[in-house]
Parts: sequence; C-alpha cells; structure tokens
Amino acid sequence: MNKAFYLTTAIDYANGSPHLGHAYEKILADVIARTNRLNRLETHFVTGLDEHGQKVQQGAEKEGVTPQERCDRIAKEFLNLLQELNISNDDYIRTTEERHKKVVSHLLTDLFDRGEIYKAEYSGFYSLRAEQFLQEKDKVNGKWPEIYGEVTEITESNYFFKLSKYQDWLVKYLNDNEDFIVPRFRKNQVLEFLKEPLNDLCISRPKDRLNWGIQLPFDEGYVTYVWFDALVNYISAVGYGNESFEKYWPADLHVIGKDILAPPHSIYWPIMLKAANLPMPKQILAHGWWMSSGEKMSKSTGEVIDPLSLIEQRGVDPFRYFVMREMTVGQDADFSLDRFESRYKTDLGNDLGNLVSRLFHMIATYENGVVPVAELNEEFEQKLKSHFEEMKPKALDLFNNYQFNLGLDQIFVFIRGINKYADERKPWKLAKSDNEEDKQKLKTCLGLMVESLRLAIQLLAPVMPDVHGTVNGLMGLPPCENWEKDLILDFRLVGKSLGEKPILFPR
Ligand code: ME8
Ligand code: MG
Repeated sequence: MNKAFYLTTAIDYANGSPHLGHAYEKILADVIARTNRLNRLETHFVTGLDEHGQKVQQGAEKEGVTPQERCDRIAKEFLNLLQELNISNDDYIRTTEERHKKVVSHLLTDLFDRGEIYKAEYSGFYSLRAEQFLQEKDKVNGKWPEIYGEVTEITESNYFFKLSKYQDWLVKYLNDNEDFIVPRFRKNQVLEFLKEPLNDLCISRPKDRLNWGIQLPFDEGYVTYVWFDALVNYISAVGYGNESFEKYWPADLHVIGKDILAPPHSIYWPIMLKAANLPMPKQILAHGWWMSSGEKMSKSTGEVIDPLSLIEQRGVDPFRYFVMREMTVGQDADFSLDRFESRYKTDLGNDLGNLVSRLFHMIATYENGVVPVAELNEEFEQKLKSHFEEMKPKALDLFNNYQFNLGLDQIFVFIRGINKYADERKPWKLAKSDNEEDKQKLKTCLGLMVESLRLAIQLLAPVMPDVHGTVNGLMGLPPCENWEKDLILDFRLVGKSLGEKPILFPR
C-alpha cells in the first residue's frame, strides 16, 4: 500500500458561525492539497467539526434545542462554507460520529489498561458560575473577581493522563526534529512552555457538570475532556484500528492556528501518540491570526468578517487570492476591506483580467481566434522567456515552503511582465502595418503572450481553481493535473482556436 500524503486542519468548534479565521485555514490547507496534487503527490485532505464541550451544551440550552440539534445546524453552516470556498477535502469528520467515538473509547481503554491513565482526587477552588476550577493566579488583589460568583473549595475525583512522564522525551524530540513545528520560531514558544514541569492532564469531567461528551469507557460517571476527544479526530478520520490506517498515518501535515499549538498540538498530542505507541505526525504548521483593529478576529470580540458576503460580492477566487496574497504564513495580518478592493482592482482587474481580455480580443480580431506561431529571435521575446524560466523554480520552491504570498508575487510580477512586453511590442500598431515583417512580429507577440499566459494560469491553479478552469477552458485545455508536464514553455496551443474574450473580474 502506497502511503498517501495525509493533511489535516483544526476541526472547528461548533459553538458559533464560521468567520474569516476558519475560512483562511481551510483555504491555506486547500492550496497545499492542490499544490501537492499538481506535483503528483496522492493527498488525503481532512477537515471537520469539534462538537462536544461545555460551550456547545450551554449554547444549546440557551436556544432550547438539544446539543446534537445545535451541532447539526452549525455543521451545515461550516459545510456550506467549505463548498462556497471550493475546498477540495476528501473527508469531513465530526466528533459526534460513531466512527470517532469508537476510536476515542478504544484509545482511552488502551491507555487505561496500560497504566497511562489513573484516577486521583483533586482539590481546588471551583466557580459554579464559570463552571471551572480556578487557581491562585486568577485572584485579583487577593480576591476572586465578581465574574466567578461564589467560589468554593471542592474535592473531586478525576482521571489523569501521565503527561509529565514524557516531558523529557518531548523536549528531546522537539530538539531533534527541527521541522516538526513550522515556522521554526514557534518551536521556541513550545520549549519555553516546557521549561516548567508539566502537570498530568485531567482528561475527565464528572457528568453532573458536563454531559455533552464521550463517556469514559471505564467509568460511566464521566465524559472525556474536549482536547482528548478533539485531537483524536486525526486518527479516527483515517480509521485507526483498520488496515487502511497504514495508508495515511502518520499524518504529513497538521495545519492549525498558533493559539492551539501549545499545549494541545505540540504537547498533549505528541504525548498521547507516544503513549499509544503510534508514530508522530511529520509536521505541524501553525498559522497566524487575522486581526481587526489590532485584535484577534473571533466569535467573542464580535469584530468578524463574514467570508460569505465577500464571496457573494466578488467571487470565491478573489477571496482566496486575497487571503493567500496578504498573509505571510505564520504571521498575523490585519484584514482591511480597502486592501481587498485594491488587490481586486490592481492585481486581478488591471494585471490579470486586462491581460486576458485584451489578448483574447486581439487574437479574435487579428488572427481569427487562432493562436499564431511565435518566433523567438529577438531580445524582447528572449527576455520574457527567460523571465518565465527564472520565475518558475522560484515560485514552485516558495509554494513548497508554504510561502504562498511570495510565490504569488513572483507569478504576478511575471504577469505584469507579459503586459509590459505587449506595451513594448504594441501589437495594435503592428496590426495596422502592411509590412510582412511586422505581420510576423504581430504573430510572434500574440503567440508568445498566449503561451506565457497559459503558463501563469497553470501556476495559479491551486489558489484560483475557478479562474484557472475558465481560462484553460477558453484555451481548449482541461484543468491542469500535472505541473511537471504543463509548466513547459512549448507553444502547445499553436493552431488552436480560442474561446471568446472573458471578463474575469468585473468592476
Ligand atoms: O480551536 N485568524 O476551534 P476554533 C486565523 N476546536 N485563524 C483563526 C482565527 C483568526 N482570527 N480564529 C480562529 C478550535 N482561527 C478547536 C480545534 S483541533 C483538534 C480542535 C483558527 O473554531 C484557530 O487557530 O476555535 C483554529 O486553528 C481554527 O481556526 C479553529 O478554531
Ligand atoms: Mg478558538
């Protein structure tokens, strides 16, 4: 069985509607998946929904519906978003699915039987209003803040997972595996976290406090703590316990936001896998946050951009292009509608859109819609050709290193290069000349522009799949499936008829 590249995203909390942060992460992972496929790497791409926990239970109570009903409604919203964003995931895992619950139970049983999980009493200050244990550091001026209501000291039995036992192993693992966490600077934050001794992880919640969860297989009085449930999606989605599991595990890449790197993904998850004798995922990519007015965009701040309304106004590809072009993967970025409009008008409208429409228009008018033969015997032509030859490996390399903003920049500099070439060659002037030499220059100019555009459009496929499909269609080509084959400058369209001039990015 050939191992497939297994790619995951975080599974979104079913406690609110999707926003730009969720949309971005799915697009980022989708661009990686599509890039892989164009590089002929079999890729299994999974995303999903994280449905258990207190907030979901409380939200349902407020609405007067069951938690499952609320989750089903929210799942529809997230699934609709995936469709609107044109996300090419192969599977969608929900933590209320039987296939997931079975794997969580199986894993818990296994760890419990092997002594990795134990029961102990825990005493602490508990806020009924916030439904959580508090620590001394939660006090303000020596007192519990008003928001916690009455705070009492209670003793509770719970189940604990032996995290601390694996602390030294994890530190060594992180140091030995430079690329386990990217961008690399994030690893230091994890190591910083690991300077303090780890406590064992409380992985149970008594049912009288929380019942919307997966019951512990060895004690029906408890449900599983959300992270111990949610992280397991990465193995339940690929059938842990079945033969097919080997085809996918270990995951090649977990794409997540920086807020859930430490401790969940960089500490709990590797230790859970280690304790279960499972191989480590190859890599975790932690992206940054979309901010608005200096704050993280989130359900709680209220300042959220609804991706669906932007898509409705401008189409999905401009939205995909914008988020990939603006965000340096790993850093934060501010979202601004002005910038969105400006990218739409300049990069997409002026640079790419105009190139496509004027080129198709000229070929229709001057060449009866048929792609002419180009002769690359002059400096102008050689210059554009070398521009492509130099840009291609750079763009591919940047894409492979998740530096999509820089890769897109390379491609758009090339697109502007094609426009500049046209401005220098002035095909509209050449078309007025009766001179044979000028006629051939015209053919060369249009032929080379078509070939250059074809190449640029193949490179844009992962980020703008619809635009790619449309332009390829007008050139009589199916959507690209193989970059190695299709990124060669070989004038394969000579003699082919082009479709009608499109308006890709209307004002
Ligand atoms: O954390 N900018 O779910 P979630 C960029 N269920 N990314 C953002 C963002 C923003 N403003 N806001 C959120 C959870 N995200 C858990 C994950 S995984 C086993 C369980 C990202 O709905 C966030 O970083 O709060 C996370 O990767 C994803 O959206 C889901 O966030
Ligand atoms: Mg969150």
